[in-house]
Amino acid sequence: MKALRRLTGSRNAAISDASAGAPASVVPRHVAIIMDGNGRWATRRLLPRTVGHHKGVDAVRTTVEACVQRGIEYLTLFAFSSENWRRPEEEVSVLMTLFVSALEREVGRLTRTGVRLKVIGDVSAFNPTLQAAIRDAEARTAGNDKLTLTVAANYGGRWDVAQAMRRLLAEQPECMTDPALITPEAIDARLATAGMPEPDLFIRTGGEQRISNFLLWQLAYTELYFTDDFWPDFDAAALDRAIASFSERERRFGRTSAQVAATATAQRG
Ligand code: FPP
Repeated sequence: MKALRRLTGSRNAAISDASAGAPASVVPRHVAIIMDGNGRWATRRLLPRTVGHHKGVDAVRTTVEACVQRGIEYLTLFAFSSENWRRPEEEVSVLMTLFVSALEREVGRLTRTGVRLKVIGDVSAFNPTLQAAIRDAEARTAGNDKLTLTVAANYGGRWDVAQAMRRLLAEQPECMTDPALITPEAIDARLATAGMPEPDLFIRTGGEQRISNFLLWQLAYTELYFTDDFWPDFDAAALDRAIASFSERERRFGRTSAQVAATATAQRG
């Protein structure tokens, strides 16, 4: 049955290691992560919370490289939510400085590993230095095609749906008189993630089991995985545990198990 399940995720690559007798894993095409637990990681070590954010950048680097090695095509990370402005001013300021320095420092490595960087969210709220660093990193990595790394910054899922609706009404004012033109596809094409496949696997570290206004629309059929690991401890082995859990899931997209099995059989020819 597991083999059938593997085939049903038609856009997912099945990787097997028959020689080692290891169970086959399905590699998700798009992984989305809420990186939670930086502050608690630091506090438990009697360190300032900001040390946890610095360690969090190291975990981002490790995870990006692990995704490239595993053939994951899209990685979307929630770096700063629309609500994170409510944090103490000093922590917000450290995070902004950290984003700029990470962008400037990592862009060379991203290019060497074939990673294209995109930032989604209302970046107009960021200071001009950060906005320039974002534009520069996006431009310098635009030709890379192994992995698309999307960083959600000043992002919120409700903001995304609202801005997509505003764009739709601006681009097609006839929607006002013919609401049938407001379709899921029309909204989808105007989301910040337009053109990307929806996430196959959502991971949240840090023990909370919430979506927290991340990719609300895009996660409709995504497999959810929660771990108690704090983000700074997340590494290739932790990613593999999430992928192993994903591999066990049967993705039915509203169909029955029998239909899924029949589709898999048909696909095998
Ligand atoms: C959540 O931990 C983490 C954040 C709000 C910031 C995430 C930022 C990074 C991992 C570093 C930079 C990332 C990039 C892409 C350059 P928390 O502070 O909410 O932890 P807590 O729940 O333990 O308080």
